[in-house]
Amino acid sequence: MDYLDQINLSKLPQHVAIIMDGNGRWAKGKGKLRIFGHHNGVTSVRDVVEGADKLGIKYITLYTFSSENWNRPKLEVMAIMELMVSTIHKEVPGFMKNNIKLNAIGDLDMLPEKCYNELQNAIETTAGNTGVVLTLALSYSSRREIVRAAKNIAIKVKSGELDIDDINEDVFEQNLFTGDMPNPELLIRTSGEYRISNYLLWQIAYAELYFTTKLWPDFRKEDLYEAVLDFQKRERRFGMTSEQVN
Ligand code: FPP
Repeated sequence: MDYLDQINLSKLPQHVAIIMDGNGRWAKGKGKLRIFGHHNGVTSVRDVVEGADKLGIKYITLYTFSSENWNRPKLEVMAIMELMVSTIHKEVPGFMKNNIKLNAIGDLDMLPEKCYNELQNAIETTAGNTGVVLTLALSYSSRREIVRAAKNIAIKVKSGELDIDDINEDVFEQNLFTGDMPNPELLIRTSGEYRISNYLLWQIAYAELYFTTKLWPDFRKEDLYEAVLDFQKRERRFGMTSEQVN
């Protein structure tokens, strides 16, 4: 029996976040340039989104480019940005056909103009779609996102729009980039690295963490199904006892 047949469709994570890692090592292992790995990573993205759609997972959030990634060699950064432009452009008809809504979080104004415009165009074109919400974290840093939320709240307090006593977790959450999404219940990281790397630090407070040694370009929908199955075997206690949960 394959993984898909074993999944309980009534106990799916609503939101799966993924740290796509290992593109460079995958390419190096084949004697190719790092960008070859990123190109092949796009095939994994397509397959995983297809798998999420097939299962009925509503939100997929991909760590596509971190704020720290700007420090990579200039040529690699340029090549990733170009890959992003061409991929987004190519994928829009497929998003429309499959009812996928594209979304992005991060310091998007740091992106090269061409990339920013292509992205905004795709976000606007797919805005009315009601299927999977595919969020790309781009020029994203969770710490920066948290500081930004704190600043937004301070501005509202200063202007009298918000009372200091009304600041709570819900209000804080609404001021994050992800304010209109449920928090991820499952976080997957590929490539055998066991770190969070400044990704969705607030949002993953109660997420189940799943690590696999597979490199991202080798990751396929079956691997997503395996992770979901593992998620379904865990007991999520949210600080309570096992007896209380059951
Ligand atoms: C991490 O592997 C991967 C990235 C920083 C880039 C990921 C980008 C893509 C897969 C392109 C996706 C594009 C769209 C539009 C979704 P790494 O380079 O850190 O690998 P390494 O750890 O082996 O060096």
